[in-house]
Amino acid sequence: MIKIRGLHKRFKKAEVLSGLDIDILEGETIVILGPSGAGKSVLLKHIIGITKPDYGSVEVDDLNIAELSGPNLLRAVKSMGMLFQGAALFDSMTIAENTGFYLTEHDDPKTGKRVPQKEISDRVDEALEMVGLQGTQDKMPNELSGGMRKRAGLARLIVYRPKILLYDEPTTGLDPITSMQINELIVKTQKELKATSVVVTHDISSALYVGDRLALLRDGQIAHIGKPDDFIKIDDPIIEFLKKSISQDPRNFR
Ligand SMILES: Nc1ncnc2c1ncn2[C@@H]1O[C@H](COP(=O)(O)OP(=O)(O)O)[C@@H](O)[C@H]1O
Ligand SMILES: [Mg+2]
Repeated sequence: MIKIRGLHKRFKKAEVLSGLDIDILEGETIVILGPSGAGKSVLLKHIIGITKPDYGSVEVDDLNIAELSGPNLLRAVKSMGMLFQGAALFDSMTIAENTGFYLTEHDDPKTGKRVPQKEISDRVDEALEMVGLQGTQDKMPNELSGGMRKRAGLARLIVYRPKILLYDEPTTGLDPITSMQINELIVKTQKELKATSVVVTHDISSALYVGDRLALLRDGQIAHIGKPDDFIKIDDPIIEFLKKSISQDPRNFR
């Protein structure tokens, strides 16, 4: 379980997080919705410990990530994986090398031991197959489309079998069909790994497809949180707008 309390974060001019509280339950997929610049990426970076809060705590299985640094932080976050906005593959590595990266560089979080090369290769093949990228092992990232790169980024996480998966705008910039493939993969990965997932997005269709619970980030706090059916009924201008964007003919906005 991830328990966030009183998270405050200010960057020079603006306070981005203003006392944010949220509980993320074991095994659930929670979606954080919110407009651009609301602090969604900043929130994910606090969970994985890349960014430190000014105040507040981020407890993951009773360890406060916000207080850890160095090897202790690495140990605490080694069971987490984050799909960064834009997938962030290494351009000079093949898709197979990219996919196996964590296994080549780190110990297996389950066993604490190095993973033998043969097993890495098998797990890479399996992960690529799972995201529908079989046969791309020897390709370079720039030979793949945007959607394929996203899927390769996901394969790189799957291979490592994290218990907590963080997705930063996994469907942003993708066409609707590719977005749906990514949504399906998020659900499939969750089932396969029985992981806890935090998905950040401003795509309400994606949120409704993948989320067990939806939360709205506004003014640096979680303004609303609930199951999809309850969430979309909440009387709030942003939620009203998000809902309209899927249920109505866009010409009605004119
Ligand atoms: N490292 C940083 N230094 C200064 N400002 C930052 C930094 N990271 C984020 N911000 C600011 O914090 C706000 C929230 O950013 P972000 O979390 O990226 O928004 P989004 O909800 O679109 O992901 C933005 O105004 C952004 O400019
Ligand atoms: Mg962002």
